[in-house]
Amino acid sequence: MTTDAGATPLVAILMGSRSDEEAMSGCGELLERLGIPYEQHVMSAHRTPDVVRDYTVGAKDAGIEVIVAGAGGAAALPGVIAAYTPLPVIGVPLASSALGGVDALHAIVQMPPGVPVATMAVGTWGARNAAVYAARILALSHPDIAQALDAYREEQARR
Ligand code: RP5
Repeated sequence: MTTDAGATPLVAILMGSRSDEEAMSGCGELLERLGIPYEQHVMSAHRTPDVVRDYTVGAKDAGIEVIVAGAGGAAALPGVIAAYTPLPVIGVPLASSALGGVDALHAIVQMPPGVPVATMAVGTWGARNAAVYAARILALSHPDIAQALDAYREEQARR
C-alpha cells in the first residue's frame, strides 16, 4: 500500500501481521493529514525474516527516511529492522497477546546499546505518535513538513 501516487514515500509503516492493521491505522491517517508520502507493508521478523531483511536493506536507497514498525507479542520486528538499516526506527508495541502489550513494550524498548528503537506508547496512541515523531524527524530537512507540523500543533492547541 502506498499513498500519493508519484511521490516517493519518505516513511515506511511496517507491521508484523495483518491483524495489526487496525491498531496501526492512525499512523497512516496522520501522515496523510500532514502530507507525508508513505508506504505500508506487512512482514514478520519471525514468519518472513527474509522479506524483512530484503526490504530493510534496500529502504534507504529507495528514498525512505524513517521506518515505523508495529508488532505485538515477542515483538522482534522493530529491533531486527534497526539491525539492518542506519535509518531511524520508531517502534510501536501492540496489545496482541494475553499480556496486553507489556510484552511487546519490553521487547521493543529494551534494545542493546548501539541499536536504538524509539519506542512509543502501546497501541493506537503509539501508532499516532509514531506519525508525529516521524514528522518531527523529517521536519528537520523538509520545510513543507515543518510547516504542516506547525499547523497541526497550532490546531491541537486551539482545540
Ligand atoms: C506479532 O504477532 C504480530 O505483530 C501480531 O501482533 C502478533 C499476532 O499475529 P497473528 O497471529 O494475528 O498473525 O508477530
